Amino acid sequence: MRRAPHFSCKSKVSRLAMPFFGLPLVLLLIMASPATSCNEKEKSSLIQFIAGLSHDGGVTMSWRNGTDCCKWEGITCNGRGAVMEVSLAYRSLEGSIAPSLGKLTSLLRLNLSYNSLSGNLPSELLSSGSITVLDLSFNRLSGALQEPHPSITEQPLQTLNISSNLFTGEFPSTMWEKTRNLIAINASNNSFQGWIPSSFCINSTSVALLDLSFNQFSGSIPAGMGKCSALRVLKAGHSHLSGLLPDELFNATSLEYISFPNNRLQGLLDGAQIMKLRNLVNLDLGGNRLNGKIPESIGQLKRLEGLHLNNNNMFGELPSALSNCTNIITIDLKGNNFCGELHKVNFSNLLNLKALDLLYNNFTGTIPESIYSCSNLMALRLSSNNLHGQLSPRIRNLKYLVFLSLGANNFTNITNTLQILKNCRNLTSLLIGSSYKGEAMPEDETIDGFQNLRVLSISDCSLSGNIPLWLSKLKNLEMLFLDRNQLSGPIPAWIKNLTSLFHLDLASNNLTGELPTALMEMTMLRTEKTATHLDLRVFELPLYFAHSFQYRIATTFGKTLDLSHNNLTGVIPQEIVQLKSLEKLNLSFNGLSGEIPQQLSKLTNLQILDLSSNHLTGAIPSALNTLHFLSVFNVSHNDLEGPIPNGGQLSTFPSSSFDGNSKLCGIVAAKLCGSAEAPPVSVPSTGQTVKRVAFVISFGAFFGVGVIYDQIVLSRYFG
Ligand SMILES: *[C@@H]1O[C@H](CO)[C@@H](O)[C@H](O)[C@H]1NC(C)=O
Ligand SMILES: *[C@@H]1O[C@H](CO)[C@@H](O)[C@H](O)[C@H]1NC(C)=O
Ligand SMILES: *[C@@H]1O[C@H](CO)[C@@H](O)[C@H](O)[C@H]1NC(C)=O
Ligand SMILES: *[C@@H]1O[C@H](CO)[C@@H](O)[C@H](O)[C@H]1NC(C)=O
Ligand SMILES: *[C@@H]1O[C@H](CO)[C@@H](O)[C@H](O)[C@H]1NC(C)=O
Ligand SMILES: *[C@@H]1O[C@H](CO)[C@@H](O)[C@H](O)[C@H]1NC(C)=O
Ligand SMILES: *[C@@H]1O[C@H](CO)[C@@H](O)[C@H](O)[C@H]1NC(C)=O
Ligand SMILES: *[C@@H]1O[C@H](CO)[C@@H](O)[C@H](O)[C@H]1NC(C)=O
Ligand SMILES: *[C@@H]1O[C@H](CO)[C@@H](O)[C@H](O)[C@H]1NC(C)=O
Ligand SMILES: *[C@@H]1O[C@H](CO)[C@@H](O)[C@H](O)[C@H]1NC(C)=O
Ligand SMILES: *[C@@H]1O[C@H](CO)[C@@H](O)[C@H](O)[C@H]1NC(C)=O
Ligand SMILES: *[C@@H]1O[C@H](CO)[C@@H](O)[C@H](O)[C@H]1NC(C)=O
Repeated sequence: MRRAPHFSCKSKVSRLAMPFFGLPLVLLLIMASPATSCNEKEKSSLIQFIAGLSHDGGVTMSWRNGTDCCKWEGITCNGRGAVMEVSLAYRSLEGSIAPSLGKLTSLLRLNLSYNSLSGNLPSELLSSGSITVLDLSFNRLSGALQEPHPSITEQPLQTLNISSNLFTGEFPSTMWEKTRNLIAINASNNSFQGWIPSSFCINSTSVALLDLSFNQFSGSIPAGMGKCSALRVLKAGHSHLSGLLPDELFNATSLEYISFPNNRLQGLLDGAQIMKLRNLVNLDLGGNRLNGKIPESIGQLKRLEGLHLNNNNMFGELPSALSNCTNIITIDLKGNNFCGELHKVNFSNLLNLKALDLLYNNFTGTIPESIYSCSNLMALRLSSNNLHGQLSPRIRNLKYLVFLSLGANNFTNITNTLQILKNCRNLTSLLIGSSYKGEAMPEDETIDGFQNLRVLSISDCSLSGNIPLWLSKLKNLEMLFLDRNQLSGPIPAWIKNLTSLFHLDLASNNLTGELPTALMEMTMLRTEKTATHLDLRVFELPLYFAHSFQYRIATTFGKTLDLSHNNLTGVIPQEIVQLKSLEKLNLSFNGLSGEIPQQLSKLTNLQILDLSSNHLTGAIPSALNTLHFLSVFNVSHNDLEGPIPNGGQLSTFPSSSFDGNSKLCGIVAAKLCGSAEAPPVSVPSTGQTVKRVAFVISFGAFFGVGVIYDQIVLSRYFG
């Protein structure tokens, strides 16, 4: 027996609801909800579902027993008063999903995405006899998915989205033989293991999207994919897939988007096969073990917009037919063994090209003039090849060019290069180091453009001359790399005029004179504010150090002053205390004298402090013990004396940090301090050491500090 209030409440609720939900929504509800109200059994299933949650995000406000459940928030009923849709995305729901939802026999669509639901996915839902659209993406669901009971012969499921959960185990396979109207599966970003099932298209001709990326699938790509005659998007990147691309795959000629990056796929890109995929728009096979050449038949893929074959073992010349891919927008071939001249490709056909990345290959010859016809090009990286010659003034045609990396080649005439590029007004990143060997740093006053340059690297060119005055006009410069040249003369006082500069690398030059006080006035190193002032724009192409470290945004470089390996003299000025936000300070291998300023202890953001191989005297200030972020500390090879401060951060560094100071004493200096001249030395407790190690590891995991420091020191070039 129904309770009496049931009917009277019905009209009351809609009137009362009006101020809360607004008229349009109420009208919508009234229109969607039929004359018949929901039945008690279904209501009870819904109440069981909500009762199973530990946090219901306020949904129960409208979900009250005694009211018509067809009018509840997120519920839509069909004409017979049966629940047809439950849509509760973004409701902060927590707790597990009760199997009772499986009892809603008319439920077509269930959308619980973007909540914090946990526990297993009830098999009643996955094997439901009614659900066509199931979206549980962005939750914390876990466990394995169960195959449907053998007695189930057919399932209406069309769309399944379980991406970004914590599912494990093997992916169901028999299930797909029963879903004859399957259209889309997104299972990305989970921890599924085992083989990718080959059954997706056995009984279903409508599968259009399969996204299995970011899992732990192994084995090869199943040949069964070839049966997916309607498949348009296939993604299985970032897993452990191996083996060859099966020939059958290329029978799926509707494919527009193939994405298998970062697996262990092998073999060749078969020209006879790839040309079958006439609809292909995007091919991403980067980060695998493919070898062989790019086949000529690639030119028949007229719709191709993205070609990503980066980080494989491919070789040979680029096929001239690439010029026929006139819709191409991105070509990423970095990290292979491609060779030969680029002139074979007529780039002037590729008017849509926006990014060309040929980093780390073995291309020879000069930059083909035809590249300068690609008027939409935004990012061009040719670094780490064997190219030579001078830059053509025609590069000014590239009006949208923002990122240019030409380093580690054998280009000549840096004056010419800078004179040409200064007028590329949109250029923000220019990396041209490890070329122009032995030339002179242009000091020409007429270099006065580069208005928008944020990153400039002219490292490792053995350039002679001074730090040129024209740099002082680059008001937007954030990072300047002039390391490993033969620049001489002083560090100019105008350096402080570069008010956006936060990363200055002048290491390994022949600079002389004292540390100018102007250096201590650098705006970006003084300000405590970090993220708000620093540029978080993403680089057009990620930068690389030594093949491995990727930098996508400028701020990950850190606030740095690296003046090491020069001939700087004089003392470390007390004013250094002003550089409050400095993270890396390297003054090693210079001729600095005087004491280590106690003030350094105020630079509490320091992660790297290297003062080694100078002529510093006096004691190590014990206040440095308070630099809790330090992960690299080195004062070796100076003339320091007295006890190594103990009981803090400093006593946790190895003896190599203190070597070569014959008058230093303490446990790590392998020379105990006499009791008369020093306070008793206490052995650093293992607890401390462990704490610091743990800190370095966790810090390293987030920022890669220690490792990146090594890489910067070791790497020849970054581009
Ligand atoms: C809802 O109401 C019905 C009767 O109207 C009652 O039998 C049932 O126990 C109630 N359910 C809950 C969860 O309170
Ligand atoms: C589920 O709801 C969210 C939020 O409204 C929406 O973005 C998503 O497309 C829905 N899922 C399906 C499969 O319609
Ligand atoms: C699905 O395919 C399998 C194997 O091809 C077949 O045995 C089965 O009958 C098919 N199921 C349906 C529902 O068509
Ligand atoms: C699918 O591909 C295989 C191998 O390439 C081929 O032998 C077979 O005939 C193709 N099937 C169809 C239906 O095209
Ligand atoms: C490229 O296109 C031109 C003109 O359409 C054609 O003559 C040539 O054969 C094509 N090359 C390839 C490899 O597709
Ligand atoms: C690069 O190409 C040159 C000749 O073009 C060859 O001598 C050299 O071995 C190649 N280097 C690599 C690493 O393949
Ligand atoms: C810079 O790029 C903008 C579009 O991003 C373009 O409109 C403008 O013409 C470019 N400026 C120059 C000087 O090329
Ligand atoms: C670089 O080019 C110069 C002259 O253009 C040449 O003498 C030199 O051998 C080249 N170096 C390399 C490593 O190819
Ligand atoms: C370098 O380029 C300038 C023009 O920018 C030119 O005047 C000069 O002759 C070039 N030098 C060499 C060695 O080619
Ligand atoms: C540095 O400059 C001095 C004198 O100017 C010179 O003798 C020396 O060779 C230079 N060193 C380097 C590495 O350029
Ligand atoms: C640096 O800035 C100061 C004042 O802000 C100005 O007087 C000086 O001319 C500038 N120096 C250079 C080289 O631009
Ligand atoms: C700079 O130091 C190097 C050794 O590191 C030395 O050979 C050179 O003469 C020094 N130059 C000057 C100008 O002091």
